[in-house]
Amino acid sequence: MAGKTRISDVAAAAHVSLGTVSNVLNRPDLVSVNTRERVIAVIQELGFVRNESARQLRAGSSRAIGLVVIDAGNPFFADVARGVEEAVEEAGGVVLLGNSAGKQVRERRYLELFEEQRVRGVLIAPLSDTEPSLGALTRLGIPVVFLDRHVEDPEHSSVSVDDVTGGRIAAAHLMERGHQRVAFVGGPSNLRQVSERRQGAEAIVEETGGASLLAISTRGLTVAAGRQAAEDLVMMASGVRPTAVFAANDLVAIGLLQGLSAHGLRVPGDVAIVGYDDIEFAAAAAVPLSSVRQPRDELGRRGAELLYEELAALESGQPVEHQHIRFQPELIVRLSSA
Ligand code: RIB
Repeated sequence: MAGKTRISDVAAAAHVSLGTVSNVLNRPDLVSVNTRERVIAVIQELGFVRNESARQLRAGSSRAIGLVVIDAGNPFFADVARGVEEAVEEAGGVVLLGNSAGKQVRERRYLELFEEQRVRGVLIAPLSDTEPSLGALTRLGIPVVFLDRHVEDPEHSSVSVDDVTGGRIAAAHLMERGHQRVAFVGGPSNLRQVSERRQGAEAIVEETGGASLLAISTRGLTVAAGRQAAEDLVMMASGVRPTAVFAANDLVAIGLLQGLSAHGLRVPGDVAIVGYDDIEFAAAAAVPLSSVRQPRDELGRRGAELLYEELAALESGQPVEHQHIRFQPELIVRLSSA
């Protein structure tokens, strides 16, 4: 039947063996860069149908799904990973977990490992939107779904929460409680989740008028970063110090609570606090934390489901329709901002 390009056609056109084409698609680490690029160029030129290569090479294919998170020590990602694992297990797969720890080089190392191991698909909470290793996976027919990141990318599906709205509802709540000096505490600002929360808070403060927003950037989104920010706040004269803090996530909020309390400042009496994620420790904190809830398990589960929907389409030769699912955040009010 005319039409479908076979692996043998690619091998002939690229002047390599069938095994080399298989390795380019299967074990690219075994192929020199020049050969790999030449074969990939022929694959693209001949319009070699990825799902065809998937079907031909899928025999004994890996059941593994690669998952890369930003901070494995953050309960937010533990909850997201649990949602991923439940969905993957139901599909008969297994999860390989990688922790980028906020470092691009580590993220890239995991993506290259997943490529070498020919995982069936990848779920990633990315540090940026332009990681070249993601393109290599896509070219090999390995689908990638973005978690906790909204992308209008025709090549990839995504599952995220509307963090701009999350920032708005956190700051609006504190202003409704009468706070006029509000701080946003969290960083690094090159992380989209942080910058969008801050943008939301800044927008509502601007629109409402009558309040100010002081941004205190931190080196990370950890309890220690929150404690350090508390030191900065305590150093301020009481007439200047913000009376309310919106923390970029619950770990920072917990650190702020610890640091402020250690210096004798009362929460919420002297400083009200709102966190983000609503991890289990928010409600269990010494002063139960108000927090903007993210549907963590659901984020993970839906991301995995989108990945398997894409795999099913690829392997049956159906067109893949990428989706961009956005959940809405919900403010949970507790004692820390009551
Ligand atoms: O990775 C840092 C933060 O971004 C997490 O706490 C969670 O809020 C995620 O969206």
